[in-house]
Order: sequence, then C-alpha cells, then structure tokens
Amino acid sequence: MAAKLVSILTIVLLLLSCGERAQPYEWDLPQGFPAPDIPENNPMTKEKVALGRALFFARALSFNNTTACASCHLPERAFSEPKARSVGASGVTLKRNASALVNVAYAGTLTWSHNGLRHIEQQLMIPLFADTPIEMGVTNFEDVILARFNTADYKSLTRAAFGDSVLNFDRIVKSLASFVRSLVSFNSAFDDYAYRQIDEALSPSQLRGMELFFSEKMECFHCHGGFNFTQSSKHAFQTLTLKAFHNTGLYNEDGNGAYPIDDQGLIDVTLEGSDMGHFRAPTLRNVALTSPYMHDGSIASLAGVIEFYAAGGRGKGINNPWKSQFVKGFDMTKQERDDLINFLHGLTDESFIKNKNHHPPIPAPSTIIMSHN
Ligand code: HEC
Ligand code: HEC
Repeated sequence: MAAKLVSILTIVLLLLSCGERAQPYEWDLPQGFPAPDIPENNPMTKEKVALGRALFFARALSFNNTTACASCHLPERAFSEPKARSVGASGVTLKRNASALVNVAYAGTLTWSHNGLRHIEQQLMIPLFADTPIEMGVTNFEDVILARFNTADYKSLTRAAFGDSVLNFDRIVKSLASFVRSLVSFNSAFDDYAYRQIDEALSPSQLRGMELFFSEKMECFHCHGGFNFTQSSKHAFQTLTLKAFHNTGLYNEDGNGAYPIDDQGLIDVTLEGSDMGHFRAPTLRNVALTSPYMHDGSIASLAGVIEFYAAGGRGKGINNPWKSQFVKGFDMTKQERDDLINFLHGLTDESFIKNKNHHPPIPAPSTIIMSHN
C-alpha cells in the first residue's frame, strides 16, 4: 500500500515537472499507418517543429543572409524548386536538382544517391556546412550566424523547445530535422481511394493509369513501390532493406555505361563499378508539382519521363550495361500515356501544399540583420 502511494506520488511529481516541458508531437496519419522511425536522441515535439519551421524559412541561416532552406525547397512545389539544379548562397550551381521534401521521415536513405546517409540530422550538415560547393556556407560563420538569432523571438522559441534560450547548431539541426519530419503527405486522391475506400476519388482514366503503374508491362512499382512510392523506406512495418538505387539509362558517355563525370551516382560513394549511374528512386507523392525531373533536372515534364521509360532510357543510355532490367521499354498508346500522367496527378495532396504549418510563420520571428564581414 505504502509502496503504491509512493509510486503514485512519483508519477504525480513527474507529471508536474513535465508540465513545462515540450509536448509530444501528434502525427496526422491515415488509420493504421506506421509512425516513422525517430532517432532516440531527437524525439519529435511540437515546439522543436515550431523552431525548425522558423529556421527553415530564415535567410539569416546562410553566411551572407541570402539563402534559406526554403530558397531551394519551396512549399508550393512540395519543397522542390523549378531550377534544374540548385544554386548555393555564393552563386555556385550544385550538381543536383533539389529533392522534394515529402514523407522524408520515412526515407530509408537520404539524397539522390548515398547509402550511408540515414538520418536527416546527418544529411543537414551538407546544406549547412559544405564548402565545395557552398549551399548555405555556415562553416567559419557559426558565431556570426548565431548572433543574428539572438533575439527575443528566437530565445522564446528555443526555450519552449529545449528548456533554456541558448541556440546552438546542435539544436538548430535537431529542430530543422524535426520540421522536415513533420512534412507528411497522405491526403491525395490516391490515398482517398486506396486507404479511405472512396471509390470515386480516382477518375476512370486515373484508375487505368494506376493499373498500368502496377503492371508488369510498365514495371513502375518495382522501384517506386510501397505506400511512399519508393523502395527507400524505413518504418515499423518494414524491416527489410530493399534495393533503393538503380541505373535507369539516362546516360552512357563512353559506350561502357559511364555517367557524366561530375555526378556518377552511388559509385562515387561506394567505388563499386556496378553502382555506376545508380540513383535512388524518389517518392512520387506530389510529383506533378516537382518538375523538372531526375537527379539533374534533365527531363522537363512528366510526359517526358514516361516517354523516357517507354524508350527504355535516353539515347546511348538505352544500351547502358548497368541499366536495370526493369527499364526495358514498352509500347504505349497516347491514351495510356495520358492515363499514367493522370494517375501521377492523383498523388498530389493539395492539403499538404496549403497547410499553413508548411509555410513561413506570420509574423516571421525577428533576426538581427548584419552584413557578413
Ligand atoms: C542551395 C539549395 C539548397 C539549400 C539551401 C538546401 N537544400 Fe536541401 N537539397 C538540395 C539539393 C540539391 C538536394 C539533393 C542533394 C543530393 O542529392 O545530393 C537536397 C536534399 C535535401 C534533403 C534530402 C531529402 C531526401 O528525400 O533525401 C533534405 C532533408 C533537405 N535537402 C533539407 C534541407 C534543409 C533542412 C535545408 C536548410 C538547412 C536545406 N535542405 C537547404 C538543395 C538545397
Ligand atoms: C529500375 C527502377 C525504376 C523503374 C522500373 C521506374 N523508375 Fe522511376 N525512377 C527510378 C530512379 C532510380 C529515378 C531517379 C533516376 C535519376 O535521377 O537518375 C526515377 C525517377 C522517376 C521520376 C522523377 C522523379 C523526380 O522527383 O524527379 C518519375 C516521375 C518516375 N521515376 C516515374 C516512373 C514511372 C511512371 C515508371 C513506370 C513507367 C517508373 N518511374 C519506373 C527508378 C525506376
């Protein structure tokens, strides 16, 4: 009895002491969906997501006050951008197209082509700190940048998220990662059809397109499978690591399968010859909003992408010896092409784009604007 009283008291005391702590995050997922895997050292809280959201839209986070995460990841484009390849804060063009940020919380690996980047916290070190090429150019400007966030607004956001008002890069990275994880999208017409059993959510053309997508003729689902339309997934229901990287036959510079030297995909990380031209099959959720396409933005439209697969690759890439056996080319009628495009439009989630939590906070928390020298 006494022991029980003590334990009840302990619980009451614990609850009281938690009163001022951050609140656990509530995921907005369709019924029965697995919550994403969250690293133990960075639990999701509403307050961290709020701080991360403010930081995501803050240009003050780049060395010269020009570039926010949102400069390359635009909310209305499902957090991708219309440029084929992104341009960093110092004006240098990067080698890749900005990834859409959609259900990244479920991604098994991050970026277009890296098998070792598994946590968003790790990946964010690249845009923040990389210097070849510079994306935001934080390196050597850490103190200058932190001083810009020394305002009442950011102190209060930081205190709510971490218990005291000291902002540092560890906390910046944790908050940004939490915000990125909060960007979940499960309200497309496809979701209504597949997971909410609303039969009329997809049009007859979209239903035909869906059948083609999941057919052995077109093979799309082999690489863009699962509820996230990518084989690169990690969550409570999926313990198997599926093959996430493929050569789709975009290039063949030398007749032996070489991709352009500035970006050859997974081989640049693993140094394995057979990884030449291997890139991650990205999620196709909201893909109608994320043109141009592919790792280098080299295909302008969805029609272009589908014609590329129908041809079994592009130009000499069709005979790339490292090309996946699933990119074998197929005949299609114009109607079939349109049906497949319409199905891909059925993966657009308007509520994801309109969600005010995915846009800059109003009013924007103030920063101290200073020149960088
Ligand atoms: C200069 C443009 C630019 C800026 C600024 C930028 N990104 Fe990116 N982002 C990219 C590009 C390009 C990629 C693809 C990188 C690759 O594949 O190597 C990417 C990839 C990502 C990914 C991986 C997504 C996935 O599905 O694998 C995440 C997450 C991300 N960015 C978040 C951020 C955050 C948060 C910030 C701010 C700290 C940021 N980015 C700043 C251009 C940018
Ligand atoms: C062999 C695996 C594989 C098959 C089969 C496949 N894809 Fe892909 N898909 C990929 C990979 C890998 C990429 C990225 C390639 C790159 O950037 O080099 C990609 C990219 C895309 C993109 C561009 C996405 C973006 O954000 O830029 C679209 C759209 C797409 N695929 C649709 C389809 C459709 C539709 C089919 C069926 C006709 C299909 N894919 C079949 C692996 C595959």
